[in-house]
Amino acid sequence: LMHRELETLVSTETDKNEAEISRKDFDGFKKLFHRFLQVKGPSVDWVKINRPPEDSIQPYDKIKSKGLPADISASLNKLAVVKLNGGLGTSMGCKGPKSLISVRNENTFLDLTVQQIEHLNKTYNADVPLVLMNSFNTNEDTKKILQKYKHHRVNIHTFNQSRYPRINKESLLPIAKNMGTSGENSEAWYPPGHGDIYTSFNNSGLLDKLIAEGKEYIFVSNIDNLGATVDLFILHHLMSQPAERRCEFIMEVTDKTRADVKGGTLIQYEDHLRLLEIAQVPKAHVDEFKSVTKFKIFNTNNLWISLPAIKRLQEKNSMDLEIIVNPKTLDGGLNVIQLETAVGAAIKSFNNAMGVNVPRSRFLPVKTSSDLLLVMSNLYSMDAGSLTMSKKREFPTTPHVKLGSSFTKVQDYLRRFESIPDMLELDHLTVSGDVTFGKNVSLKGTVIIIANHGDRIDIPAGAMLENKIVSGNLRI
Ligand code: UTP
Repeated sequence: LMHRELETLVSTETDKNEAEISRKDFDGFKKLFHRFLQVKGPSVDWVKINRPPEDSIQPYDKIKSKGLPADISASLNKLAVVKLNGGLGTSMGCKGPKSLISVRNENTFLDLTVQQIEHLNKTYNADVPLVLMNSFNTNEDTKKILQKYKHHRVNIHTFNQSRYPRINKESLLPIAKNMGTSGENSEAWYPPGHGDIYTSFNNSGLLDKLIAEGKEYIFVSNIDNLGATVDLFILHHLMSQPAERRCEFIMEVTDKTRADVKGGTLIQYEDHLRLLEIAQVPKAHVDEFKSVTKFKIFNTNNLWISLPAIKRLQEKNSMDLEIIVNPKTLDGGLNVIQLETAVGAAIKSFNNAMGVNVPRSRFLPVKTSSDLLLVMSNLYSMDAGSLTMSKKREFPTTPHVKLGSSFTKVQDYLRRFESIPDMLELDHLTVSGDVTFGKNVSLKGTVIIIANHGDRIDIPAGAMLENKIVSGNLRI
């Protein structure tokens, strides 16, 4: 029935090019849906999970200690940087691609990425291209903006990920009325997660093109991770392996803190390294999964992957990524599910895959306006599109920042700060309710500001708050 429904939808496509794309999407979805129907029970057997062997996750310092060769530009020329750019800025209250949100001195995520790669190309006289994986949600807006980088020293390529139909939770049939993505159909389609990269990269022809140009590895990361810069030591490590032990996949992991209990972790399963996501964990073991003692590291989603290996696995059609069933309730109240996969789940299919335990600085995601406040502040300094912790900060950790719901939308957040406070000596900040900050405010130690319902607190320009609680009508 599903097959017939989709066949009818696809056959309404009149544009020839579009029809071919829809056909490929349809084939991909059919395979995924078929696997979904066959799955019985959890994808991992808990008793078979083991800690990864000692040498399968190497400390970054060990990789770094090998140093760099004089001709690192030769290695750089075999690399392409891929940014996952299928996502929207909805959770931060923005319309359009998340990568177009300004994060630092008017620079967007995309601007910073382009600056980083351009700097690399200039410094090493190299040609590292930037590849953006867009989705039908982000492609148009992203392409318009790309004009801006025409004169920068970085070649930019894009390809589109697949577009799959959301399905009714009860009937398991697609809810789409036609192939369009607007009007009554605007909630009928979705981009099926970043695990889609392997299929859509191959389908786009760009994978073949890059291989033909002599590219050997891609460095893949979330575009909202500001710490995901090209690391020359990891690159050199990959390039210097003897052919018979060629490492086809590196996952950068980092030490888990109590704040990152939900991230996927690496496990040894049968004779492979595997990514274990919380969605795969049986209910009875969720607390164990979250503990920092048993599973010490998590996936940063910074991945180094061999291009010829992707090609080989695509041709063999042997990359069975675990399906993540994502339930959603649409605006009208309809319950649907969308089937997704994660890019890191492919680690089990590659030869000589390994993890590298990198410093926390390589994981600097911006998911909320609290994250945004940190990266906009003087805790970081910026150089050629890269952020590093300011040398003026005395402790190596970032403060804990919790901005309340009146700060969720980026626009509201920006309106509430006349300038970004000095946070060099801050440990903890909680803000709740209708609060605004004047110019040049300084925050130190633990600061808690709570405006009760109906009240407003304006922190005056130039104020210095150190270990203070401000609430209700109390004035500082
Ligand atoms: P997510 O929104 O999935 O963030 O996007 P997350 O939940 O922190 O990360 P994961 O999924 O656990 O790793 C992560 C990155 O993947 C892109 C987003 O644009 C973002 O850069 N993405 C996500 C896609 O490109 N396509 C998708 O279908 C989903």
